[in-house]
Amino acid sequence: MNNLLKFPKGFFWGAATSAHQVEGNNHNDWTEWEKANAERLAKESQSRYAHWMKNWSDIKLKAQNPKNYISGKAADHYNRFREDFDIAKSLGHNAHRFSIEWSRIEPEEGKFDEKEIEHYREVIKALRERGLEPFVTLWHWTMPVWFTNNGGFEKRENIKYFVRFCDRVVSELKSEVKFWIVLNEPNIYSGMSYIRGEWPPQKKSYLMFLRVFSNLIEAYNHVYDAIHNINPEVSVGIAQSVNYFEGWIAPVVRWFWVNRFLNRINNHLDFIGVNYYYRRLIRGFNFDAGEGQRTDMGWEIHPEGIYNALKGLSGYHKPIYITENGIADARDAKREKFIGEHLRWLARALGEGVDIRGYFHWSLLDNFEWDKGFWPRFGLVEIDYKTLERKIRPSGYVYAKIAKNNAIENDDLNKSNVL
Ligand code: FCB
Repeated sequence: MNNLLKFPKGFFWGAATSAHQVEGNNHNDWTEWEKANAERLAKESQSRYAHWMKNWSDIKLKAQNPKNYISGKAADHYNRFREDFDIAKSLGHNAHRFSIEWSRIEPEEGKFDEKEIEHYREVIKALRERGLEPFVTLWHWTMPVWFTNNGGFEKRENIKYFVRFCDRVVSELKSEVKFWIVLNEPNIYSGMSYIRGEWPPQKKSYLMFLRVFSNLIEAYNHVYDAIHNINPEVSVGIAQSVNYFEGWIAPVVRWFWVNRFLNRINNHLDFIGVNYYYRRLIRGFNFDAGEGQRTDMGWEIHPEGIYNALKGLSGYHKPIYITENGIADARDAKREKFIGEHLRWLARALGEGVDIRGYFHWSLLDNFEWDKGFWPRFGLVEIDYKTLERKIRPSGYVYAKIAKNNAIENDDLNKSNVL
């Protein structure tokens, strides 16, 4: 085992999903938006992707089909979660991140559906029976239609609805969950929805962005207190998008994008969840100038960025979990190397004292990638959307070996072989 780089005992290895992207048959603000925008997205796909996407001919048929943009039954994970967790277990995972769909639990304002709470209780039980530690996200972007019709997080007075929902869920599941992730990437959500105006509710307004951003901060802090009132023993944190920015204005962008939110919740933060995907190289006012290899979605593959991002967070002195890291790679040609290199850079940060306690690959399954639809393939497990058959990709087995050994082959990045 001498040439193996060992991870600390008890390190969490798993994969992540989110409700809307895998469950199927949800009814929330995104479902409505998909119906209204599928035709448009299909029409725009040629002008959005054809000029830069090397594999455009591979995805063209799918991207030009309006059905690609309707989440529908997705991976039918809502019904097949046990089968999916069997796979995760067989792949050596000892943890799993998923999200609870608010619109299922509270389909009408103030009316909570016991059956759906029971469903998630079953999900958690199924994980525990297979030795997988649940990391539960309370908000992964989708919201009940009554909430968004009422202004969503644009209105400060609406924060109480989200707090009430979280309070209810956590009270019900309090003895079964140790790790709560209150929000997923509030920065990406508010940026895509209110600065770029591309995601629901497609309002391009900087003022509104600021309002939503600050309401999400307030919501987070309230929920943190609510959870700790219910069970002081649990760990509560956030999954923050920490993509790595480089270039002349990078320190300002990093502060704006990563630190501003974290600084305002810092005394309500038991751990930091890091979602890392790519580097943005800033040249002039061009934010997408990366030179490295790219994923199917055009994101630059830059493994060293995970190290830089992690080092940049070490000053918070909090435990860190990688809550997402992954690659759209339909041919599974780059995923194995992607995982290996990101983990080696992660190991280097660990070796230098950054307190990293787990890694969740995005994603366990192929899933519905928001406004891109179904063509991006992020899964360790491939889904055949016609038959819903699951097939483990070769890279899924490679990741399994790492998880089972709690170790990865060493290389010159890391001097010592024990972290
Ligand atoms: C992240 C999202 C996740 C998934 C990946 C590819 O920003 O949190 O839901 O879409 O990107």
